[in-house]
Amino acid sequence: MNTDTKARDEKDRVIIFDTTLRDGEQCPGATMTFEEKLEVAELLDEMGVDVIEAGFPIASQGDFESVQEIARRAKNAVICGLARAQPGDIDRCAEAVRPAARGRIHTFIGTSPLHRKYQMDIDEAECLSRVTASVSRARGLTDDVEWSAMDATRTEEDFLCRCVEAAIKAGATTVNIPDTVGYAYHDEFGDLIRMLRERVPGADEIVFSTHCHNDLGLAVANSLSGVSAGARQVECAVNGLGERAGNAALEEVVMAIHTRSDVMSVWTGVDTTLLTRASKLVSRVTAFPVQYNKAIVGRNAFAHESGIHQDGVLKHAGTFEIMTPESVGVKESSLVMGKHSGRHAFREKLKELGYELGDNAFEDASVRFKGLADVKKHVYDEDIEALVDQEIASAQDRIRVTSLTVIAGTGGPQKATITLHIDDKQHMYEAVGDGPVDATFQAIRALVPHEARLALYQVSAVTEGTDAQAEVTVRLEADGKIATGRGSDTDTMVASARAYVSALNKLLAREARRKPETMLAS
Ligand code: KIV
Ligand code: ZN
Repeated sequence: MNTDTKARDEKDRVIIFDTTLRDGEQCPGATMTFEEKLEVAELLDEMGVDVIEAGFPIASQGDFESVQEIARRAKNAVICGLARAQPGDIDRCAEAVRPAARGRIHTFIGTSPLHRKYQMDIDEAECLSRVTASVSRARGLTDDVEWSAMDATRTEEDFLCRCVEAAIKAGATTVNIPDTVGYAYHDEFGDLIRMLRERVPGADEIVFSTHCHNDLGLAVANSLSGVSAGARQVECAVNGLGERAGNAALEEVVMAIHTRSDVMSVWTGVDTTLLTRASKLVSRVTAFPVQYNKAIVGRNAFAHESGIHQDGVLKHAGTFEIMTPESVGVKESSLVMGKHSGRHAFREKLKELGYELGDNAFEDASVRFKGLADVKKHVYDEDIEALVDQEIASAQDRIRVTSLTVIAGTGGPQKATITLHIDDKQHMYEAVGDGPVDATFQAIRALVPHEARLALYQVSAVTEGTDAQAEVTVRLEADGKIATGRGSDTDTMVASARAYVSALNKLLAREARRKPETMLAS
């Protein structure tokens, strides 16, 4: 929780509603597995996010199950599911959030002329009657109901007022005003919230919420403008993930409120020191890199390059820093240990980094740590994080990379000989390819025949230096479904093989859930 000791008034609390797992996951390529969603939700809950929109239960069985499991596990946050203004959606959503200590149904309908005419082909009266029917149905199933006017910022003001009034009368406890297409200007958005609060009967009984998309890069500014006009819930997503250009970035909203409490005397319950961890986690599971100069969580957010800036910061950090790196959880990159470090020191380091591994996972991680310390002079926190994240991600995997030898260089042909451990047996294959990466992937394909297409291959360095570990991301696509895998190693080819195999394992696991009898073809 935020450790500020200033007296806080509940009426000034801004509810942080995170939609990384719903709007965020909806954006192309950001699909997360069941386990990844649980991991993200657990961290959001620990961070003090007030409401977690865990998914869209009617969308698929997988969405339903993840919302339900997150609802079961949440310790503090309200767990919310999304539902269209349809009885089937609402009932399914209610079922999914039922295990939560505090569950919420979030139902929505497009209110703008464009949405009424082209999406639903309904008139104003029908739209209003669907608002009333959907909110009443949801309210019959839970006490906490949020209603959203999709495309609110392009809806006629009078009609929007009537819709909001109908939702309040039917029992909505939160009314969300989305700028669905990121069209609003900040003053305009604030004025809209102000107008609704002034004109709609019953407006003072409910919480107004913002949900701003970032098509013009104004999502955070618009959300804050909404808050200064009286909105007390902000919908946002870690790293600004979301449809198209994304949603308001959670870390930016939280830190703007936290840093400039002199401008708006509002506050949030978010533990800001977990923001960096959340950003890294979401980036890892979605394979969406964080822009280097991204506010708050970009790797350059606290880097000072120019001599004048460095000099200033050394004399007094406040010269060029408006918040401390520690306040958002950035730690000094510390030298960890070398090959002489013992298991005890390694276990302590894991604890410090926030990992709790079972005995088997710890054994595997320490073997890999020793291997890494043998080849890499300096082992940093980031190296350990990459190593352990991979260990955790691959704990249930059916396929593992046992060994890889690659022949690369100008002479050609490039060749890869790989041994994979598949369901307790070792399988070896040698393949020739158009470059070492292609040869490696061809060899994996030969051992585990599959139809998936390589949709992304991305390499980055975990730390600096030529002995840095490579972190490779591979995205595979099969039948419109996407699986993302990551692998790290000081050898880029080994990291590539691990990343490919990791993505493949996810596809197989998903396939096995759908058709339990599925076997590997090898
Ligand atoms: O952008 C939007 O309008 C939404 C709604 C479903 C809230 O995501
Ligand atoms: Zn949205």
